[in-house]
Amino acid sequence: MHIPNLVEARKRTNNKVLIKTDDYKLNDNQKNLGKNKKYFIKTYGCQMNEHDSENISAILSDMGYAKTDILEEADLIILNTCAIRENAHNKVFGLLGRIKHLSYTKNIMVGFGGCMAQEEVIVDEIMKKYKWIDFVFGTHNIVNLPNIIEKAYTNKKQEIEVFSCEGDVIENIPVKRDSKYKAWVNIMYGCDKFCTYCIVPYTRGKQRSRLPKYIIKEVEDLIKNGYQEVTLLGQNVNAYGKDLDIDYNMANLLEDVAKTKINRVRFVTSHPWDFDDNMIDIISKYDNIMPYIHLPLQSGSNKILKLMGRRYTKEKYLNLFDKLKEKIPNVSITTDIIVGFPNETEEDFKDTLDVVDKCKYDGAFTFIFSPRIGTPASKMQDDVSLDIKENRLQKLNELVNKYSKENNDKYLNKIVPVLLEDYSSKKKDYLKGYTDTMKLVNVKADSKYLGKIVNVKITSVKTWSMDGEIVN
Ligand code: 5AD
Ligand code: SF4
Repeated sequence: MHIPNLVEARKRTNNKVLIKTDDYKLNDNQKNLGKNKKYFIKTYGCQMNEHDSENISAILSDMGYAKTDILEEADLIILNTCAIRENAHNKVFGLLGRIKHLSYTKNIMVGFGGCMAQEEVIVDEIMKKYKWIDFVFGTHNIVNLPNIIEKAYTNKKQEIEVFSCEGDVIENIPVKRDSKYKAWVNIMYGCDKFCTYCIVPYTRGKQRSRLPKYIIKEVEDLIKNGYQEVTLLGQNVNAYGKDLDIDYNMANLLEDVAKTKINRVRFVTSHPWDFDDNMIDIISKYDNIMPYIHLPLQSGSNKILKLMGRRYTKEKYLNLFDKLKEKIPNVSITTDIIVGFPNETEEDFKDTLDVVDKCKYDGAFTFIFSPRIGTPASKMQDDVSLDIKENRLQKLNELVNKYSKENNDKYLNKIVPVLLEDYSSKKKDYLKGYTDTMKLVNVKADSKYLGKIVNVKITSVKTWSMDGEIVN
């Protein structure tokens, strides 16, 4: 049994990161454990977690399990959880209630993984109040799932395997991708920024970059398999390579990935701190690097940015923003903003609105600050009421939506490239896809266009999406 430990999770040593190429193995028993059984997986949180679930799915598939999207059909239920805010917790515990009910009628195996599994308080609660959960696995323990599940079948006690170590890089985990056309590619794991509100450096360990050769090989294999788009994934992709012994950074990687000639290259998430001019030059130089950047602001107030440990000022952020707009033609920029950080005054909040007014973002994810146990911000004195915070969020959202719609309006009657990736969930006889600038478009099109990048004339525009038709 390995339970999570906050003190360990906070540590950063000079230990060398190990690149492991043969860690993932199955014995004969494990290859058959899932025979005639089905698994259901529910994923919460960011793209990193979505991609982890693609790894988990492949491992379960190797063990003989078949996938089901219906909870009630499953023999094995996996929750891949997120710890970023309190409401993510609430959703998970809601689903656990439903699963417990199901377990009265049927023999099921239940696994609890992801970022919440890295939290001491959560695992404590699971050990005390959720004894019926069969196994708990952390973000560093996915590779070991075959052993964990095998043990859970044989030993009847709750299996808990959560390492709070800094983490290695495992290169041979299999992946079963949700899409046939666009793929997530991890370029790095973990984060060393330690913004004072954020749980990620604790749940995901220290920053570890993958070696370029493995990333390029993965992209080349994706091209061979007909993929049109890759999104390079990391908590802080601009810092890519800083932990490697070789002289190689994000600008180098972006250029090498662009040179593979994959049709579309994207990357998330950028931190304004490490965004250098070389990167901007490379993005504007290569047509297959998409003109879309997610650039979290978090707050427009210098006082709050300092308390958040963000390492930039409002002025520096605006400077970078203007440079991106100037150097990358047609670039669209989205952001993340937190309101109600401890000690945020009306004046501070106005600074945030001011940045939104200046940047006129294409879109923004907005959140009320949620204290995460173990992070410095959770211990900060906070005398701002929830009412005020909710009010600020609402005001901010109104402004953000206004600019989002204004930006979208500019697309009306324009012809833009769209990668059609799936059937539209909203409209019959429509496919959906994204523009190069990451705008969601519903397109009236036959299914033969699935997986194709087509020119689309935009016929109507809303705040969150657009409609269009294919033109030749
Ligand atoms: N409270 C509220 N929002 C948070 N985020 C991260 N941690 C917290 C927190 N404790 C937001 C940030 C980040 C996004 C992924 O989630 O805006 O960029
Ligand atoms: Fe992703 Fe962070 Fe949520 Fe973990 S806590 S799933 S890294 S957003």
